[in-house]
Amino acid sequence: AFEVRLERSGRTLAVPADKTIAETLKENGVDVELSCEQGVCGTCLTALLEGEADHRDFYQTEAEQAANEQIALCCSRARSPLLVLDL
Ligand code: FES
Repeated sequence: AFEVRLERSGRTLAVPADKTIAETLKENGVDVELSCEQGVCGTCLTALLEGEADHRDFYQTEAEQAANEQIALCCSRARSPLLVLDL
């Protein structure tokens, strides 16, 4: 498990191992735009302000993933204990 902090609202949510970031946000009433939910379309890409993503999407290039500036909320996870999202 890891945590996500929503920079704009200041909320911090725990993401359990069996839920995606997007599922966790929705369950907590945070509106996220989703489409494919498989890491393909890029709809859910969100700016990552802090933390290291474990990228699982197929939308960003390897270079974009390495830059670690955006994260696909439908499928990607975290390598650091906390991710700070521009939400
Ligand atoms: Fe399509 Fe996340 S919803 S990449």
